[in-house]
Amino acid sequence: MKRMNDPDGSAYIHGICGDTMEMYLIIKEGTIVECSYHTDGCYTSQYCGSTASRMAVGKTIGEVMAISPAMVIYTWPDMPRDGLHCSILAVSTLHKAIADWLLKP
Ligand code: FES
Repeated sequence: MKRMNDPDGSAYIHGICGDTMEMYLIIKEGTIVECSYHTDGCYTSQYCGSTASRMAVGKTIGEVMAISPAMVIYTWPDMPRDGLHCSILAVSTLHKAIADWLLKP
């Protein structure tokens, strides 16, 4: 979990639970070469941020856009029900960071 200086794409979302998630991307030739996250949330949000980040590295923009909260949840079959929304926060922030990159000139 770390913030990144001068990423190619980044995003911040203040989740409905009150926790925050940040995602940072380094993108080379349409592929994610580095992804990091930061959250002030619970263990589950840290897990989801970490898992979404690891899933993104090495994937193309299109492949990252296909990552879903369900894919994160499948990596932890017994994820507590009250933490399922953390996967939505993590993946939404990842996708928003992609959008940030896409909208840069
Ligand atoms: Fe808020 Fe998990 S992101 S409880």
